[in-house]
Amino acid sequence: MKTVLVLGSGGQLGMSISKVLCEKGYKNKWLLFSRKEVDITDPEKLKMIFEQAKPEVVVNCGAYTNVEKAEDERSEAFRVNVQGTEIVARLCQQYGSHFIHISTDYVFDGRKNVPYEETDVPNPINWYGYTKWAGERVAINNAENLTILRVSGLYSPWRKNFVKTMINLAIKRREMRVVYDQIHCPVSALFVANELVRTIENDIVPRGIYHLTNDGITSWYDFARKIIELSGLRANIVPIRTHEFPTKAKRPAYSVLSNRKWKETTGAKTIHWEEDLYNVLRMPEMWENV
Ligand SMILES: NC(=O)c1ccc[n+]([C@@H]2O[C@H](COP(=O)([O-])OP(=O)(O)OC[C@H]3O[C@@H](n4cnc5c(N)ncnc54)[C@H](OP(=O)(O)O)[C@@H]3O)[C@@H](O)[C@H]2O)c1
Repeated sequence: MKTVLVLGSGGQLGMSISKVLCEKGYKNKWLLFSRKEVDITDPEKLKMIFEQAKPEVVVNCGAYTNVEKAEDERSEAFRVNVQGTEIVARLCQQYGSHFIHISTDYVFDGRKNVPYEETDVPNPINWYGYTKWAGERVAINNAENLTILRVSGLYSPWRKNFVKTMINLAIKRREMRVVYDQIHCPVSALFVANELVRTIENDIVPRGIYHLTNDGITSWYDFARKIIELSGLRANIVPIRTHEFPTKAKRPAYSVLSNRKWKETTGAKTIHWEEDLYNVLRMPEMWENV
């Protein structure tokens, strides 16, 4: 087994990695640290961990992820997503660790209407997206042995996410107004975690920028309908346009990522987003805190 350090492990992706490791009987084999245990903006504490663990691979799941709040908390989002990433990248360089940094479809402006390739130039349209893109740049500038993995529309049984919000609204029998003019491809954090564990343990994580999502595309409206249908719930879901639901942060109208390069390079068997959703909705954990 490799010495793998996971930072920011208390979030959706970190919890999903923990779940996948348990399922595979690898519990306690990887070193998982939540923000409480180590803050990625704390260089001294992080250095101590690197010094003790001498990790071969470091996965950074830690991030400021609240897209809307980031517009108001600009310096905090920058501190975590850019300065924190730089600290981790420098330590990876110093200790010869392979740095796997998680990024987002929100680095793109959404003006395309075919899936974004890794060669497309980012042009973020909100502060969260800007900090994630700047985080990619500092990772590239400071760590030679690097993989940037962009994912989109993450959901899981843990933390706050779109799937759980829709289920909760349906249970409370509230009417839902959901935008139909923002197109993306959701992926479960479990699917991403499985891919991370598979490729890290088989030593086949490619270096460079990669996009990892499911197959197919959807609007948030159609995604919401499928969540409710597969959950066996009933709800009145009203399709609306983005301008009818004003937010501080602009969202890309189209942020589908092409997973072609990841599939070709790692041999991944991606599935349709509906199948991924079906699998996650069958997990007992999904229904524990609704
Ligand atoms: N969620 C999405 O839809 C989405 C879409 C595309 C890309 N991504 C990217 O995917 C990655 C994982 O996202 P996620 O959905 O798992 O996010 P999440 O559930 O919000 O988890 C993020 C984790 O980072 C931790 N964190 C925040 N500041 C930190 C710091 N200074 N030091 C250490 N840890 C810190 C948080 O700690 P607390 O537990 O204390 O809050 C939380 O546990 C992120 O890079 C995100 O940008 C997410």
